[in-house]
Amino acid sequence: MNTKTDEGINKDILSEVLNGLNKVPKILPSKLFYDKSGSKLFDEICELEEYYPTRTEIKIMQDNIKEMGELLGEGTLLIELGSGSSQKIRLLLDYIPGLAGYIPIDISSEHLLNSCKTLQVEYPNLNIFPLAVDYTNSFELPKIDIKYDHKAVYFPGSTIGNFTKQKAKEFINRIAKIVGPNGGFIIGVDLRKDKKILEDAYNDEKGVTAKFNLNILNHINTELKGNFNLDNFKHYAFFKEEIGRIEMHLISKVNQNSKIGNSVFSFKKDEHIITEFSYKYTLEEFENLAGDKFNLKKYWVDDNNLFSIQYFKKREK
Ligand code: AVJ
Repeated sequence: MNTKTDEGINKDILSEVLNGLNKVPKILPSKLFYDKSGSKLFDEICELEEYYPTRTEIKIMQDNIKEMGELLGEGTLLIELGSGSSQKIRLLLDYIPGLAGYIPIDISSEHLLNSCKTLQVEYPNLNIFPLAVDYTNSFELPKIDIKYDHKAVYFPGSTIGNFTKQKAKEFINRIAKIVGPNGGFIIGVDLRKDKKILEDAYNDEKGVTAKFNLNILNHINTELKGNFNLDNFKHYAFFKEEIGRIEMHLISKVNQNSKIGNSVFSFKKDEHIITEFSYKYTLEEFENLAGDKFNLKKYWVDDNNLFSIQYFKKREK
């Protein structure tokens, strides 16, 4: 996999993008937000007054870290999906008794290896086994030559919200396979709440989220040889109450054509491209979603019920 064309273009990503733009309505994969400037913009989003998830999740972790570490338990081999700069994990590492090792997984190998270097300096005794794959597709763990008691997956940030419910279920089933017998699963899940709070979080006053959304076109321009004119699209985000998800769209301001390589796509004025779903769950909805494979053992929320961290153990058959 991960084959490239002669021009160094990632074929899997290219075909995903072309497929999405041939759909009605047009849709782009959210993982394309995160090139260098997209990742920077996301970090900026996390600092915004309106964007409550990141700071709330960190607060929940800080307030309950001892209990989380103990529940994960002695001899855990910890697997983190979408480890990025391994920020949140630093809170946890010191609190897992007899932590056996840490497998950070991230799509960007450069970013991953850099963060591992820094982490290794801070934690000289930690066994780190970085894995650069797109965890949204099926993948295998590297061969691990150390002793451990059980595996546990850590999936923070409510990134699970990017999947439709069906895809989220399939994904959780894959996690169950990866952790195996006696496996643990600790996940950050954004909660359903008042529409106004949600819509403000994705329509911040400074316009950082708008820039982040538009940057997906920039990323396509550079990585896939596109020629999108960012001035001709605008950011749109709203909460679809019936389904319980934020949708982020880009709306074409004019009738226009854009190219990706040799493929031409036409956009009508006011036509929408879907760039992201961000599902919000009630505690009950998420417990049901994971319930086929996992038992909910414990959950933690903040004082305002904005965000949750949930700890599951694999069901034994
Ligand atoms: C990283 C997927 C959790 O859905 O809130 C932030 C991404 N999009 N602002 C989210 C995002 C717009 C974020 N996740």
